This record gives sequence, structure tokens and C-alpha cells, in this order.
Amino acid sequence: MINSNKTVLVTGGSGGIGQAIVAAFGREGYNVAINYFTNEKGAIDASKSVTGGGAFGIYQCDVGDMTQVLKMKEQIERDLGEVDVLVCNSGIEYFGLFHLAKEEETERLYKTNLFGAVNCARAFLPPMINKKSGSIIMNASICGEMGFSCEVDYSVTKAGLIGLTKALSREVAPSGVRVNCVSPGFIATPMTAHFSEEALSSIKEEVPLGRIGKSEDISEAVLYLASDKASYVTGTVLSVNGGWY
Ligand code: NAI
Repeated sequence: MINSNKTVLVTGGSGGIGQAIVAAFGREGYNVAINYFTNEKGAIDASKSVTGGGAFGIYQCDVGDMTQVLKMKEQIERDLGEVDVLVCNSGIEYFGLFHLAKEEETERLYKTNLFGAVNCARAFLPPMINKKSGSIIMNASICGEMGFSCEVDYSVTKAGLIGLTKALSREVAPSGVRVNCVSPGFIATPMTAHFSEEALSSIKEEVPLGRIGKSEDISEAVLYLASDKASYVTGTVLSVNGGWY
């Protein structure tokens, strides 16, 4: 119950990594606002892991739409109070050749992955600035650090999150707000479930630590960045990828 006075919002809390992030904060006694887009069942399942004595709420919202984000903010503040920790985790992938991507697919990708985080950060920052306290964590990707072929637009959105982290962290540091990002390598989740056994073995061979990542590898890093243990950490990219650079 160490954090029962604190509220965290996890966007995409219904997905693989999101569920693990909900569980980590839930275990530590935070009040947890769980956002989902279409997978309500995933969000309900995630809520069962809020076991540390904090409250939870489940919120449907397309983070790419600022009007919906502001409505979600009102609902969360009414139910759980102001958000102290924002985890921008929502994301979708696009796998295919850059020049063949359709305009609607590309727009949806940028709206969800990049504008989703921009919208949420913009909406949830003002109370943090007023209180002179808060923590924002983006979920970027190794793709944003290295640039991956056939995931070009995805890589751009994730590199954008790294830029957002670095620039925003400087702007809001004097207001007592920290902004960081985690940058996962290859993590076994519904997003990566389509990879064949053969592809998985070749990735395992490339990863120096010799295994595929687990959602918990990421959630523990996010929890650390949100905690007071990281009170001198801002503007950083914490790569959690088994050494796969
Ligand atoms: P997932 O597909 O299991 O979860 C994605 C989540 O994003 C879901 O909860 C979904 O509801 C949410 N979402 C999608 N569109 C949304 C929208 N318009 N509004 C609100 N929420 C929306 O995927 P996974 O693997 O858990 O991914 C979570 C994050 O981690 C993503 O940002 C992804 O890019 C990132 N990531 C994942 C890696 C992996 O290997 N699985 C590697 C690097 C980064």
C-alpha cells in the first residue's frame, strides 16, 4: 500500500506489455487507470492484477483523438484523482515495404503511436506542473533507436517518441516533472505473435542474452522510472533489449 495516494494511467493497458505494467503498479498499491481501445476483455483481465490495495478504473479511448483523451482525463480525475504517472504505452505496428503502405494505414500508425503520446502528455501535464511533481514514461522501441527495414514508419513514430522524451524533459524539468522512455527489444506479446518459430529462433540467436523478452522485463523498467529511485533520471532512453543493439 506504499503508493495508494498515487494514480497512474496506463494507455493500452489491455495489451501484452500494458497488462504487465498495470500489474506492476497495481501490486505496488497505485490507483490504476487502465485505458483500452477495442479490447475491453484485456482491460478487465488486467484490472484483476490490481492487488496492492489501490483502486482501478477502465477507460475506452482512442488516444489519437484529443477530444476523447480530454474526456478520459475528466473521467479519471472524477474516479481516481489527478494522474501522477502517465505511461504512454499504446501502439500498433505496420510491417511491409515503405513505398507500398496505404495512406490510411500510415495515418493511423502516426496518430496512434506518436500523436497518441503527444495528446496524452499535453492533456495530463498541466496538473503535474501545478503540483510540481509527476512522471511521464513513453514506450518507444529498439526500432526507434536503430531503424528497422520493413518497419520504417513504425521506426519513425518510435524515434519521434525518443525526441519527444528528450525535448519535453528539458522543458518541464524546472516544473518538477520527469519524462523518460523505455525502449524494448523483441517482446513476446499479441503484437509479435505472428512471427514464425523460425524467425523467433533467428532473433534469439542475435540477442546476446539469448532469449526473447517478457512483458515483465519492460514493466519493471517502467516502474523503476516512475519511482523515487529514479528521482535524478530524466530525458533518458532505457533500452531493455537483452543487448540486441
Ligand atoms: P499489444 O498489441 O498487445 O498492445 C497494444 C495496446 O495498444 C493495446 O492495449 C491496444 O488497445 C492499444 N491501442 C492500440 N491502438 C490504440 C488507440 N488508438 N488508442 C488507445 N490504445 C490503443 O502490443 P504490445 O507488444 O503490448 O505493445 C505495447 C507497446 O510496446 C506498443 O507501443 C509497442 O509499439 C511497444 N513495443 C512492443 C514491442 C514488442 O516486441 N512487443 C517492442 C518494442 C515496443
